[in-house]
Amino acid sequence: MKRVFSGIQPSGEIHIGNYLGAIKNWIALGERLGKDAIFAIVDYHAITQAYDPALLARRTFEAALANIAAGLDPERVILFVQSQVPEHTELAWVFTTQTPVGDLTRMTQYKDKAARQSFVGAGLLMYPVLQAADILLYKADTVPVGEDQLQHIELTREIARRFNARFGATFPEPQAQLNKDAPRVPGIDGKAKMSKSVGNTIGILEAPDAIWEKLRTAPTDPARVRRSDPGEPTRCLIWRYHTYFSPAPLVREVIEPECRRAGIGCVECKRMLFDSMMKELGPIQERAAELRARPERVSEALEAGREQAAAIAEPVMEEVREKIGLLRPGARPWKPAG
Ligand code: TRP
Repeated sequence: MKRVFSGIQPSGEIHIGNYLGAIKNWIALGERLGKDAIFAIVDYHAITQAYDPALLARRTFEAALANIAAGLDPERVILFVQSQVPEHTELAWVFTTQTPVGDLTRMTQYKDKAARQSFVGAGLLMYPVLQAADILLYKADTVPVGEDQLQHIELTREIARRFNARFGATFPEPQAQLNKDAPRVPGIDGKAKMSKSVGNTIGILEAPDAIWEKLRTAPTDPARVRRSDPGEPTRCLIWRYHTYFSPAPLVREVIEPECRRAGIGCVECKRMLFDSMMKELGPIQERAAELRARPERVSEALEAGREQAAAIAEPVMEEVREKIGLLRPGARPWKPAG
């Protein structure tokens, strides 16, 4: 693993699924790789579906702020906003010309999203091509993503392979990195995976009383109708969340046996979970409040990130322009005669 690239959409508040599934891993990768750990807030991806232009800039800023508050150190890694490095869309255009339409219409995520939309823009179809450009613009070899993105990374490999075959060795074929420790966090509805589009999230910056209200009303093991009914913790969403946030001995020695013998009630168990969660989220929320009071820290971090990203992206894009045969400014397409 030499260079890592990953992206997160600014399409809503950062939730504990993002935090446990992606951001914690990004932080660890940053500690190992420094400036070879590159993370983008992918705003051009966010506009491929219905969105509110009045909210996009704020959400982009908030996504950066939440990542920094969660512990991603912008001085250590490269953290930037995708649209501020215009080479992303430029390279994406080049890649669209080398990608069969049929490969794109086959993408599971495209089919799912298109089915839920009354207006399907061509950008939704091109979405994975832009993602390939994000990754290959930095010649990244490793892409930490969730399972739902594996198909897009495979397409990225095909795009790299096809480009290299036609224009000469240029891009590595990046590998997806599925983080085994990263849980697939279920939503607070206890049904679907936690996701902004389903609306079953707990935001990492959500007010503690709002978080408590969500926990209080969340489903538990259906066997526990009355306080005296014994439960099976592994069937329970709250137990699952305990395994993410509570110390392992507490889960093993208290939560599990006490649930099984009805020694504690679900509300008590939720209280304990809430305490564990706020132990982890509290300091993040404090840092977020500090950053809100000094937003220039976030904008300066993003400006530094933009410069660092551009310093890598610009020469790679120039290499592409030359390899695909564009007329460069001031250049002549033939050598002078004689
Ligand atoms: N499509 C990714 C997602 O929804 C976000 C993304 C955009 C991304 N560009 C990327 C992820 C490049 C990894 C690498 O999760």
